[in-house]
Amino acid sequence: MHVSVDQIDKNRLPSHIAIIMDGNGRWAEEKGQERLYGHFHGVESVRNIVEGCAELGVGYLTLYAFSTENWDRPQQEVDGLMYLLVDTIRKEVPILNKNNIRLHVIGDMGMLPDFARIELKEALDMTSHNTGLNLVMALSYSSRWELVNAVKNIGLDVQAGKIDANSITQDTLQQYLTTSNLPDPELMIRTSGEYRISNFLLYQLAYAELYFTNTRWPDFRKENLYEAIIDFQNRERRFGKTSKQLQEVVTPMH
Ligand code: IPE
Ligand code: IPE
Ligand code: MG
Repeated sequence: MHVSVDQIDKNRLPSHIAIIMDGNGRWAEEKGQERLYGHFHGVESVRNIVEGCAELGVGYLTLYAFSTENWDRPQQEVDGLMYLLVDTIRKEVPILNKNNIRLHVIGDMGMLPDFARIELKEALDMTSHNTGLNLVMALSYSSRWELVNAVKNIGLDVQAGKIDANSITQDTLQQYLTTSNLPDPELMIRTSGEYRISNFLLYQLAYAELYFTNTRWPDFRKENLYEAIIDFQNRERRFGKTSKQLQEVVTPMH
């Protein structure tokens, strides 16, 4: 299917798109190459999609780059990914600044090697004044880690008398998540033909529209993104209501 950017209704963009960038390893292996070759080429897709979202005027883009569980991969792959991450961030900061893109990270930063943490912190500071696209990198992130961490911190604050256990609401929990400053994703894309969430934003994706494509991440480009957004715009988001209720015009009460 060939789609064009003109088919997108700019007034109904998903405010937050979250992507599980999957399939780098298979993409490389299918070409008789090492898995790292796939990760290396995946960076091209990141650039292209970040640019695509910035051009469209999407507010938030979250990219799942490395999961808590990915630490269990072979050491050589983990080291290669960390190096690639730092190297990419270093090179991209001027481009992020040029395009008014602000970088954020979510995840267990304590697990990252020192050099990666330092480089990331610098990049966060250097882009903190930008007001365009918010680019959120999920690094050493997993939803269960995040939820356990939130529960632990809520428990500590209850113990310290800062909050009352009986007054805990969904808003309270939201404030203890790493995504406290982000709206919930409205569209979640996973590449490479896997139909699972793999511990990504379990709580935040409660009402996201899910979009799966067989395209491997290193082949994913703006046109694939447009296709996902057009698909999203053709869906009816009901949030538990009936279709009829959504079509009823709300008349102001007197
Ligand atoms: C996604 O690609 C990138 C990371 C998880 C870091 P994979 O490395 O999972 O590639 P496949 O799924 O094995 O093909
Ligand atoms: C999910 O992909 C994590 C990232 C894309 C960073 P995985 O490739 O690690 O997930 P599984 O193992 O297929 O569930
Ligand atoms: Mg994978």
